[in-house]
Amino acid sequence: MFDAANSLHTIRTMFDAHIINCNFLSDINANTMQHIPSIEFGFGYNNYNDLAVMVLPLAVFFFGAAMILYVGLVVLFFNTDHTVMSLLKMNGIICLQKGSRPPVAPFGMWECIHYMTSDQQPWFPLRAKKALNNTDTFVLPLPRRPVMTGDYRLAREVLTDPLSTKPRTYQEFEPLGVGSIFTRNGSYWHVRRKGAAPAFSTKHVKRMNQVALQRTEKWIEEVLIPCTKSGKSFDLSKEMISIALEAICATAFEYDISPTEKKEFVDNLELQLKEFLTKSINNPFRKYLGCWIPDRRRALEASLANAEFAKRIIAKYRANPNPIKGTIIDLLANNPCYATIDELVADVVLFLTAGHDTTAYTVAFTLLQLAKHPAEQKKVRDEILSSDDSVDQCHYRSRSRKSKHLTMAIKESMRLFPVSASGSARLCGRDFVTKEGWTIPKGTSVVSHIMMIHRNQNVFGANADEYVPSRWENATQAQKDSFLLFSAGKQNCVGQSLAQAEVHCMVSRILKEVELEVEQEGKITWFLTMKPIGARLRPKIRKCVASI
Ligand code: HEM
Repeated sequence: MFDAANSLHTIRTMFDAHIINCNFLSDINANTMQHIPSIEFGFGYNNYNDLAVMVLPLAVFFFGAAMILYVGLVVLFFNTDHTVMSLLKMNGIICLQKGSRPPVAPFGMWECIHYMTSDQQPWFPLRAKKALNNTDTFVLPLPRRPVMTGDYRLAREVLTDPLSTKPRTYQEFEPLGVGSIFTRNGSYWHVRRKGAAPAFSTKHVKRMNQVALQRTEKWIEEVLIPCTKSGKSFDLSKEMISIALEAICATAFEYDISPTEKKEFVDNLELQLKEFLTKSINNPFRKYLGCWIPDRRRALEASLANAEFAKRIIAKYRANPNPIKGTIIDLLANNPCYATIDELVADVVLFLTAGHDTTAYTVAFTLLQLAKHPAEQKKVRDEILSSDDSVDQCHYRSRSRKSKHLTMAIKESMRLFPVSASGSARLCGRDFVTKEGWTIPKGTSVVSHIMMIHRNQNVFGANADEYVPSRWENATQAQKDSFLLFSAGKQNCVGQSLAQAEVHCMVSRILKEVELEVEQEGKITWFLTMKPIGARLRPKIRKCVASI
């Protein structure tokens, strides 16, 4: 921590030491060789006190100028909405009481930027936590000095505080310069979110889930069963993405997406997310050098292509003489708050994105874990087969009471592999005090890091990194409160009821049909969401015949 008063004191002490040394030398000179009457300094200063009078104000001046330059650069290039006061406090330039600020993660700025923008993002804060003796809350050594927390209480407090807002970094995901529900705050966000929320009423979730289930049935018939016959495996993530994207297009937008459109949308999205939500977010200079960076140019083209796809969806809805009432597209297209087609396009792209990627990867992680843990898989399958509940009527709230093992298996997979691992960032609208007594000043960005929260050993015990579905049987209040996959507060996930219903139904429908074995585990990567890539599962016709 840098303290101006301390620094001045240090300069003064060094200076005094220097004077003593020089006096000592001049004494020697005087006694031994020849007398040196005084040491001549530049600028006409003849003694050290005069020099001190000149140097100290200069040092203070240059230090002040450097600080102003630093804050200026941060404000200008790092798109920050922190108040200057919070920046000064978090940089330790204005000292709060000693030890009242969270510790800074012991990494260099470039190292931190490298990890926070790479596929290491979900794991890096866990390393930082370990390096800080398991501290739950710390400052990242980045210019904006964001705070990262794995403490569920602080996370909930910040996320549910009415004064908390999304920081401007969210606007990095506005490649075409138009805001969406996800990227904005205030009335711009409020009218759009309020307009879309009725699409997730119980009635609509049931309807949408039915369609997702039909798509799953079709996939089982066309891909899964043939695999059991040929002994081949399938690419887990690719197949789940395909089902979920088809389902969201059909249910939310009444649009039958073609295989080519599916591929183009997914490829374009990957280009956009990698550029705007990873590379650009912590290296704002990319934005200013945009047209000279090929990746950024390609990402902008990809954004335009996906916007064109959204326009086709809107045009098809408008041409439909008899659209279903209350679908997402129906609510968005008839909401008068959208002043231009581009504003509407931004939210159509948002729902297309948020509505498939997260759900698909959550199903994928769950199936992968169950394939790796055959005993857990058997428990879930036996329960599904012995349930009198027809799977096509499944709605997770009614099912979850009866499907204890299924619910626990999914929840544990969501805990251990949260697709939203990187968490939710919020700008504090007031000061917060952590359980350690550290102050987080108003204006600071706090990132509630879901991976850190979900794997916190103080809450989940020494086996926090293991897949143990039974831990949810008698979960403690702290464990329940730590489950933050869908974030919390007014800007939490608006689609969580649909996501929960789809995940429960897709997993149970697939496991009812086949036994799954891991052929290739693949690896986990991250850009916006955490994903299992390259995992391949081999399905086998199930052996266990429980009472149906
Ligand atoms: C397992 C699946 C899902 C997970 C884990 C998930 C997670 C999240 C999280 C953590 C946020 C808050 C992000 C933040 O604060 O930065 C969020 C926001 C959002 N989600 Fe989801 N989501 C899922 C599925 C869905 C679905 C199916 C939809 C819609 C069809 C959806 C639509 C949205 C929207 C529109 C927002 C922005 C809400 C706002 O800012 O007001 N999500 N989601």
